[in-house]
Amino acid sequence: MGDNAPRTTYMTTGAVMTATTIPRPPALWLRDNCPCTDCRDPRNGQKLFQITDLPADLAVGSAQKARTPLGEPAHEIVWAPDGHRSLYPLAWLDAHAPGPATERPGDGRTEADKELWAAADLRGRLPEADWAAYAGDDAVRAEALERVQRLGFVLLRGVPCRDRQVLDVARTFGHVRETNYGELFEVRVEPDPNNLAFTAESITPHTDNPYRDPVPTLQLLHCLANSASGGDSGLVDGFHAAALLRAEDPAAFAVLTSTPVEFAFADAHTALRAQRPLIETDALGRVREIRFNNRSIATLHHPAEVLDAFYRAYRSFAALLLRPELRLDFRLAPGDCVVFDNTRLLHARTAFAESGARHLQGAYADLDGLASTLAVLRRGGGAR
Ligand code: OGA
Ligand code: ZN
Ligand code: ZN
Repeated sequence: MGDNAPRTTYMTTGAVMTATTIPRPPALWLRDNCPCTDCRDPRNGQKLFQITDLPADLAVGSAQKARTPLGEPAHEIVWAPDGHRSLYPLAWLDAHAPGPATERPGDGRTEADKELWAAADLRGRLPEADWAAYAGDDAVRAEALERVQRLGFVLLRGVPCRDRQVLDVARTFGHVRETNYGELFEVRVEPDPNNLAFTAESITPHTDNPYRDPVPTLQLLHCLANSASGGDSGLVDGFHAAALLRAEDPAAFAVLTSTPVEFAFADAHTALRAQRPLIETDALGRVREIRFNNRSIATLHHPAEVLDAFYRAYRSFAALLLRPELRLDFRLAPGDCVVFDNTRLLHARTAFAESGARHLQGAYADLDGLASTLAVLRRGGGAR
């Protein structure tokens, strides 16, 4: 972009003025973003001052066109009353200057940044990737990770059927989250199961480990054997379900976003509890996290009228989550590894015959690490 394109202009009256369509950048915001080496450590870009170090009566003293040492067009501001000089590249101002009030970017985790789906939307176009291509080609890996962000999951095919391989899958995009189940957990029929997942029973749509805070935000399930009759998998987009609830039963949505719900897990060595709403929204009211697990919801302690409203809303949301048209059914074959957003998707399986062999290895990881790996891949660096 050239030097003379219309953009933010600065007056010397103390206020920062802008072109008519763009709200003016507040002086404190602009000064807080000064890139000079007194304000930021040039080795790492970290800020060297506290917001309270800036003058309370900060104002633009003078402003003029300038160039950065690299010759890029810039604005220079001399601040009053302390005389500090700041040089802002125009490209930076164009990219970061405050936008209109309608544009409130999210953090990538809310419904605003997702493609919501019902089962029919993905039939015949499952987000899949071949393991060899994924492991060997950064572009394939980036696309797969982007699908986890956008759709909530990816299905990796042809992952070697090796013990603990699921940990290597997690390490292609992040760090394994170890829990009381260990670095990984074995999903197979156990003689004395501490969790219904380790039986042959059907498991209705749920998110894992809502009794943990922070909850593991990503889950992996790697199939090593699945010759049992039954044991099919299901996924439900919890953000889509929450949006439907908001449209169909706004009172229930309001109750579920505002009622803390306790979840608990206990066995001989563990006693975990956490309390969060079933539907959590960001500060602007957008759906950001779903917690739903009929097995581990605890006895709630609220006034009777709160319990009454909660149970009506809970039932309404549960009925919605069980609608067949929302549930994407598929079957994991040996070598398949599904990676999914445990703050958004609910997962399920049908019952299976104990006589057959069914064995998955599961692990947890986190979305922030995945987002970091994807961002590094996109800037063309060697990620992980
Ligand atoms: C789990 C689980 C599903 C399955 O282990 O968390 O839900 O397919 N398992 O066995
Ligand atoms: Zn500075
Ligand atoms: Zn589960």
